[in-house]
Amino acid sequence: MTEQSLLLIKPNAVQHKHIGHIISLLETSGYHLAALKLFRFDPALAKQFYAEHDGKSFFAGLVEFMTSADTVAIIVEKDNAIHDLRELIGAVEPEKRKPGTIRFLYGEGVTDNGVHASDSAASARKEIDVIFGV
Ligand code: PPS
Repeated sequence: MTEQSLLLIKPNAVQHKHIGHIISLLETSGYHLAALKLFRFDPALAKQFYAEHDGKSFFAGLVEFMTSADTVAIIVEKDNAIHDLRELIGAVEPEKRKPGTIRFLYGEGVTDNGVHASDSAASARKEIDVIFGV
């Protein structure tokens, strides 16, 4: 089934100039790019986007990191996009990242992990609405 998911290229990957290669990886992996924008999170938008983590020990640091530089948001489409994109980006934990995944290539720590991808259809709908207002 064709699905939409949301990919964020996070501030560390934008600052290190990995936007082009990450988009190339998406295209060669069969994703259609339905919408794309470059913007900077303000604190309110970052808190809204990561609301499910509000109250966790890392929340303030995550908001600070996400507001530190520009982000690229991309709505991608393909069959099984949500599952397949999570596979393509790799694990949050650095030691679990498989070679070839985007986080293996461009993730640094747990917070500055290069990219974010929606983890469910409900998250994808919510995140696309938060970022693109659709
Ligand atoms: S968890 O542990 O279930 O909350 O992990 P997850 O749902 O995969 O999302 C974690 C996101 O929060 C960011 N973050 C951290 N996670 C865990 N531990 C620490 N210390 C931490 N700091 C930040 C992490 O980068 C994930 O963000 P996204 O944008 O989803 O990659």
